[in-house]
Amino acid sequence: MSGQTAEAVRLLEALAQGERLDHTQWRTLLEARTPALAAEAAQRAAAVRDRIYGKRVFIRGLIEFTNYCKNDCYYCGIRHGNRATSRYRLTEDEILACCRAGYALGFRTFVLQGGEDPYFTDARLVRLVSAIKREFPSCALTLSVGERPQESYAALRAAGADRYLLRHETANAAHYRRLHPENQRLEDRMACLRALKALGYQTGAGFMVGSPGQTLDCLADDLVFLTAFRPEMVGIGPFLPHHQTPFAGEPAGSVEMTLYLLSLVRLALPAVLLPATTALGTAAGDGRERGVQAGANVVMPNLSPAGVREKYMLYDNKISTGSEAAECLDELRQRMQAIGYTVAVDRGDFAGISEGKV
Ligand code: 5AD
Repeated sequence: MSGQTAEAVRLLEALAQGERLDHTQWRTLLEARTPALAAEAAQRAAAVRDRIYGKRVFIRGLIEFTNYCKNDCYYCGIRHGNRATSRYRLTEDEILACCRAGYALGFRTFVLQGGEDPYFTDARLVRLVSAIKREFPSCALTLSVGERPQESYAALRAAGADRYLLRHETANAAHYRRLHPENQRLEDRMACLRALKALGYQTGAGFMVGSPGQTLDCLADDLVFLTAFRPEMVGIGPFLPHHQTPFAGEPAGSVEMTLYLLSLVRLALPAVLLPATTALGTAAGDGRERGVQAGANVVMPNLSPAGVREKYMLYDNKISTGSEAAECLDELRQRMQAIGYTVAVDRGDFAGISEGKV
């Protein structure tokens, strides 16, 4: 064992003991990654997840309800500047129909995800959230609609939204500028995340692995940020290029590095709700299974109407069939069973102590 590997194994043990690592220590763990170290991290991460949640994987029905977006993130296929994308937005009735179909299939969490679409004013979104919570009071409702004023987050929370996903994308300011135009600022992103948490949302942050310009130092910054902010959810997937974006020619992120980061995040935040993401399932056919084996405990099948799924193309070849499709839940169940897990049918709330709620 090299000195670096020995130090890395010691750091995994420290993480398992609940110690917080600093930037240099995270960097050491990232640099020392070998297949053997990743396997060790995955084994420890799976044990932590099993201790808290059991061998249960939670499902979330993902409704991609608008692909209009006013932002121009360089990595994203539905960026405003992509004039080749055919735009759609679902009506309230269509969204409620998705929830009804999802409820019948066994979903007890609905995730409303969309681009930053100015059509969805507070009034319209509040109406939508209220209608869903009225019809499905036993279900959790997650929003993922980007940066909004604090008052907007407050109004949506008051209307019944339980959770909010807003990936920080990168905690490194220089890297954030490399991924976004000038008008999008890391400070604004972080202020939104803090506001969401303060309002009592179960809050999700997260980032892509292997996005252009990302270094191990950037990833160490992400891990330092996550362990300080302590979100209830963390979304991590590989960067995958989209042919109509400025990053069209950039290489995809590594599946192995993504899995390693899932394990590290599980060890650092034991009770975190951690999805095996669609991007991971797109990058590798067995990505969801490997994600769960690395410490993930959530999957988010697509509940959008079949006709719009290929229009929500954040990256090329984004999958929406098989285990990624809500209507194929049986396939997902079988695949999870094959690796020793069951698909849970409850809301699957955060099981840890959540700041702001203690
Ligand atoms: N590759 C992988 N993930 C992407 N996202 C957006 N574009 C891409 C891409 N090209 C992720 C972002 C965003 C989430 C909804 O999807 O992290 O927050």
